[in-house]
Amino acid sequence: MDKIFYITTPIYYVNASPHIGHAYTTIVADVMARYYRMNGCQTFFLTGTDEHGDKIAEAAAKAGITPKEYTDQISAQFRALWPELSVTNDYFIRTTDENHVKTVTAILQKVYDQGDIYFGSYEGYYCVGCERFYMEKELVDGKCPDHQTAPEFRKESNYFFKMSKYQDWLVQYIQDNPDFIRPERYRNEALAFLREPLEDLCISRPKTRLTWGISLPFDDNYVTYVWFDALINYITGIGYPDTDLFRSFWPVSQHLIAKDILKPHGIYWPTMLKAIGLEPYHHLNVHGYWNVEQSKMSKSIGNVVKPLDLKDKYGLDSFRYFLLRDMVFGLDSSFSEEGFVQRVNSDLANDLGNLVSRVISMSMKFCGGRVPPPSAPEAIDQALMETAARVIHEARVSFEELAFHKTLMSIWELISAGNKYIVEQEPWGLAKDPAKNERLSVILYNLLEALRTIAVLITPFMPGTGEKILRQLGIENTDNQNYASIEKWWGLTSGSVLKPGETLFPRIEFKKETATAATQKTQNDIPPVKPEITYDDFEKVDLRVAMILKAEAVPKSNKLLKLLIDMGTEERTIVAGISKAYKPEELPGKKVVIVANLAPAKLMGIESHGMILAADSADTLTVLSFDREPETGGRVR
Ligand code: MSP
Repeated sequence: MDKIFYITTPIYYVNASPHIGHAYTTIVADVMARYYRMNGCQTFFLTGTDEHGDKIAEAAAKAGITPKEYTDQISAQFRALWPELSVTNDYFIRTTDENHVKTVTAILQKVYDQGDIYFGSYEGYYCVGCERFYMEKELVDGKCPDHQTAPEFRKESNYFFKMSKYQDWLVQYIQDNPDFIRPERYRNEALAFLREPLEDLCISRPKTRLTWGISLPFDDNYVTYVWFDALINYITGIGYPDTDLFRSFWPVSQHLIAKDILKPHGIYWPTMLKAIGLEPYHHLNVHGYWNVEQSKMSKSIGNVVKPLDLKDKYGLDSFRYFLLRDMVFGLDSSFSEEGFVQRVNSDLANDLGNLVSRVISMSMKFCGGRVPPPSAPEAIDQALMETAARVIHEARVSFEELAFHKTLMSIWELISAGNKYIVEQEPWGLAKDPAKNERLSVILYNLLEALRTIAVLITPFMPGTGEKILRQLGIENTDNQNYASIEKWWGLTSGSVLKPGETLFPRIEFKKETATAATQKTQNDIPPVKPEITYDDFEKVDLRVAMILKAEAVPKSNKLLKLLIDMGTEERTIVAGISKAYKPEELPGKKVVIVANLAPAKLMGIESHGMILAADSADTLTVLSFDREPETGGRVR
């Protein structure tokens, strides 16, 4: 492990208040910063706000205040949120900071002087939401794929950064450094962008249209494009150009972003750095998107989840744990309040909370409230110690691969091992026999030691809980507890006084009526996702293309239709509950998806062999069909 670590989050736009997506990135950065600090690394953690550009100017105009007043207000909301989520950033940068503006100006002048910025004209489709131009082929039905809004067509003379000049260098760099952009799916996505010729980047906006930005030093009629300004925060935030802070931390810099801003970070930023004459950042770590109850979060749906609502209702550490445990880094995840409560009850109230309270209360009862002396371990004790050593190792490996959910799963193996050890050893039974006192002490010592290991391992994720457990173990100076201190098992001092505390995670009862407003919006019509299955489980389901040959109503049923379908190899009868949504005459000739290997069942006396797939929403059923003609009988995957 490098002895120095630098992590950044995106600097967030101040046109909206912080939500669960911003909280996720910032909490992941915090978990990483805490982990590296606890491993003895010199660490710097940067976050902040992105305050220039069309989007912000528009939001300020809507609010009827100046952009400066507006950005001051929302930036302050972000700044105030982070300590509430126990986020330990070392610095908070704003792109309106004087120092940042000065450095961006100097960089523009340098890149201009060396001939990498030129004046030209441009026309194209501009999405204000993304603050970027789109190529026509990138649009979906003429709309921005992210915002589903039609972009504006803009034609204007502007300054351009010669990004194309650095394309070959960048492709080579990404190929030579496999973990430059990670996980791999995003590295591949960046390489896919680069398969097409790169266009030069338009880096100015005429002041006739936008004044809220950093003026170009070589032409006062223009302001700087917001991305060119914003990306530079990662170096101004650590004192570029001439501080020791910058010199030490830049070579190990790691950016953390979601997939929405891969292009600016994976393409624009490395080419800008090359032009500035700086080494590229060390890693770009890209995660997926949080949806809410399967829908994209949006103000118009009204399902925006606010981190403080969850923190206030369920506690901060439960929220932090859930975010890191439920998202596989790199993939999308869907938030549901019910799923959140289930996770907290099973992993925190049951597994972790129970282990802590059982071990502490047994030690109070059977060992006079002090850490007992350790003595020679038996094979079963050795097994617990070996589990702890393996978990420490596996947790470290997965953490450094950004597989945080796996790290937590490993830690939970030790929690389960502790709970199992109690059941097997039955300390309450030994306590009845004075001759078994020594054995009882060994067992409780081991359990207390397991708690110490667990407390340290969970601290980056749940700092409050880690601290509370250590205090219950009678450890005063919790700062000394770190990864090095759990490498050896005999770390507790016998005789230390234990300090039982309140229940760490009381069980929560989930009630739909009291779900936070955001999740109430959707949870009534969209059911929560079912428990995970493996790929092999999924492979057991044989989905096929079938053509409906005939359809007729089933007598005495107001739901069922009897269908004759062609499977390519055979004809079958399927009874489907779709008669409220489809008239029999609409169906013949339609190609649909069926579950071909479902065991036959009788419905209203008719044998149905297979099932038709349909979307079940908004009080109706919509049979799955195809936008191109597939072959009848073909597999659907
Ligand atoms: N201002 C730019 C970033 C400039 S960095 C030099 C910007 N700001 S943003 O406010 O839109 O923030 C985008 C980032 O917020 C994402 O990359 C991600 O970190 C976080 N998220 C916003 N919505 C999210 C989800 N729904 N899910 C997960 N993270 C998301 O882009």
